[in-house]
Amino acid sequence: MKKILITRKLLPLSEKYALKIFNAKLNKEDKIINQEDLIKGSNDCDGILSSLTEKIDAGVIAKLSSSVKIISNFAVGYGNIDIVAARKRNIVVTNTPDVLTDATAEIAILILLGAARRAKEGAEWANKKDWKWSADFLMGKQLTGARLGILGMGRIGRAVANIARSFGMIIHYHNRSQLDKNLEKEAIYHNSLESLLSVSDFFSINCPATKETKHIINKDTLKCFPDGAVLSNSARGDMIDDDAMVKSLKSGKIFSLGLDAYNGEPNIHPDYATLPNVFVLPHLGSSTIKTRTAMGNLAVSNLEEFFKTGKCKNTVK
Ligand code: DGY
Repeated sequence: MKKILITRKLLPLSEKYALKIFNAKLNKEDKIINQEDLIKGSNDCDGILSSLTEKIDAGVIAKLSSSVKIISNFAVGYGNIDIVAARKRNIVVTNTPDVLTDATAEIAILILLGAARRAKEGAEWANKKDWKWSADFLMGKQLTGARLGILGMGRIGRAVANIARSFGMIIHYHNRSQLDKNLEKEAIYHNSLESLLSVSDFFSINCPATKETKHIINKDTLKCFPDGAVLSNSARGDMIDDDAMVKSLKSGKIFSLGLDAYNGEPNIHPDYATLPNVFVLPHLGSSTIKTRTAMGNLAVSNLEEFFKTGKCKNTVK
């Protein structure tokens, strides 16, 4: 039986599945493990089932036991793992695409709506109980018929587009390449980021965190948006230069921001925590029983497939 380290607690069905086919070391108390614990804990293992709370950088990868042949990440994003360093050591890295697409798209829409319709301020007022209805009380921005720019038209970006179409939104996007017509579904392709931003009354970040996308939303690109745009990020914090964003939120250039992923999680930028026009959730994108079970099962079956066949269809390229 192959031995694996499961770095964080999974939902019961997935742990049961792992224990059936592997000698699996579990993290029963679900403590966040540091790099040293990861290296030590996987010392006698053939594989690791990791989570986004572990930063598996080149330094960690260099120190992993030579018995470790695969890192199966419990997420579709894999910015926490240095893929190049893993490849150099012949360690396969896998992720969990598809199964979390719909849940994550729901949260992307929730933060866009929350930011646009001033949900944070609204909830605060409601809890204070001393608000008064008036014709101009907490007026927000309406999604109906507005232009939505999507950065990254992969599975999640396209699922966001599908929901947004039901609001009558007009979809624009920027991606490494233009999609086939059947996937594009009349969304309007922009071959430059600046061109996309210039038409984005609403904007949703759904691209992966890579060297190329780091701080792609910065003081220069923020100027490209129409005044009063509503922005959201349900992917990873890396894409936003937070100081530049805070300035734009304070000046009103950006009307509001919805976040489900941010730099330094769980430590939020102090201005994001206090600004009334920032609506933040604690990385809930895939957090439903259905989706987290499917992700856990897929992360286990990625290991199973790899150990049986020497390869895995969900290998990160
Ligand atoms: C992912 O899969 O990348 C999600 O952010 C994890 O919740």
